[in-house]
Amino acid sequence: MGESVRQILARESAGGTATVRGWVRTARHAKGLTFIEVSDGSCFAGLQVVVESTVPGFETELRQLQTGCGVVATGELVESPGKEQSLELRAARVEIVGPVADGYPLQKKRHSFEYLRSIAHLRPRTNTVGSVFRVRNAAARAIHEFFQERGFLWLHTPIITASDAEGAGNLFRVSVMDPADPARDAAGAVDFSEDFFGRETFLTVSGQLEAEIAALALTNVYTFGPTFRAENSNTSRHLAEFWMVEPEMAFCELEANADLAEAFLKHVFEYVLTHCADDMAFFNQRIDKTVIETIEHIVRTPFERITYTEAVSILQASGESFEFPVEWGIDLQSEHERYLAEKHIGKPTIVTDYPAAIKAFYMYLNDDEKTVRALDVLVPKVGEIIGGSQREHRLDVLQPRMAEHGLADADYWWYLDLRRYGSVPHSGFGLGFERLVQFVTGMANIRDVIPFPRVPGYAEF
Ligand code: 4AD
Ligand code: MG
Repeated sequence: MGESVRQILARESAGGTATVRGWVRTARHAKGLTFIEVSDGSCFAGLQVVVESTVPGFETELRQLQTGCGVVATGELVESPGKEQSLELRAARVEIVGPVADGYPLQKKRHSFEYLRSIAHLRPRTNTVGSVFRVRNAAARAIHEFFQERGFLWLHTPIITASDAEGAGNLFRVSVMDPADPARDAAGAVDFSEDFFGRETFLTVSGQLEAEIAALALTNVYTFGPTFRAENSNTSRHLAEFWMVEPEMAFCELEANADLAEAFLKHVFEYVLTHCADDMAFFNQRIDKTVIETIEHIVRTPFERITYTEAVSILQASGESFEFPVEWGIDLQSEHERYLAEKHIGKPTIVTDYPAAIKAFYMYLNDDEKTVRALDVLVPKVGEIIGGSQREHRLDVLQPRMAEHGLADADYWWYLDLRRYGSVPHSGFGLGFERLVQFVTGMANIRDVIPFPRVPGYAEF
């Protein structure tokens, strides 16, 4: 592997030879001189390569240099007279390894993000998507770093599962049966006992239930993997396939859970600010002029913490006309979440103690028997970025709650067992990884922060 553009640009000074391998971002042909900018994705900047007429092939094949070509250029690294960059390569040799056929869909002009989604195999070559991928990578690294430094074990939870962790029924089925001719029982119903796993199975919506198993033995664990939801939500914040980070901690109650969520987000934000400075400068200039200021502010200031009941009072007193009217008991909609985090409070807000009726079956029931120890972290623009709770660890409370949700004891026998054998208070949360990337980059649509978005009606690539 050769030196990357990042490494070349990080050299202390000009002088010496360098070889750059990458793709041409821009090519400018002048009389006796060609300028190309070569990018390899290692950093935001490309390397400017100056091709003089003495370079072999100048008048012939090198006239074909254009946006998109895969090239290898070798030459001397010199100080650049241009203000855009400090160093440039004065080419001695340029080889077009991968020429570009007619009709290359990425031209120098700005393309809409919608169009770029339709060429997701080429969009990583754009400034924006390249920056998004680097930020994604840095955020993932920061996440592992945060948990590893605190002694959390990374747990690999299954992708194929028989349980609906959220009890919301948004499951993608996993089956090898012929949909036109499935096995049927005597009554004519589809017989899943004949299917691959001998039962109905689905893609996981969350690794939480399995993470609880591990936390009740290993104390502090986290998952980081893909999750799937068959919600028909065509919004800028929903994907059918997204990555989730789910820490789960034993001997931990709601307060400490909220503390961890806050420290966690701050760590990741700070890491991205310091490790992706060029990419963040680009987002701040081209995508959202306030993004750096917002993130810096968030890293420095404590999050607000309010209860659901307080949130409802704030919304009712707001004088705003919401599409979904507010009364105690409703699930907070995105417009409400954004009003709280964006307008009223103006910073990340942790809302706790939601009505039991609108939350999942596993959340710890408060003494009022109406609310549960849930927490959602709301941020400006994106709304809910984290959802979590203290878990119901009391068997006698959990069992009737599950029955109310229509979950059969027989299907969740192991989950109930955990409440029989050494059950202790435990808590955790789930961070939607793409919502985090969306928030730090300021990108308007979640489909542009995952390499290959899966959404209703679309699964190309
Ligand atoms: O709030 P959710 O549904 O919580 C859970 O799944 C819990 N089991 C987590 C836990 O306590 N371990 O999802 C967690 C987060 C949300 O806050 C949101 O950021 C993200 O996952 N999320 C989605 N992101 C993109 N597209 C979707 N369709 C999402 N649904 C949830
Ligand atoms: Mg949620």
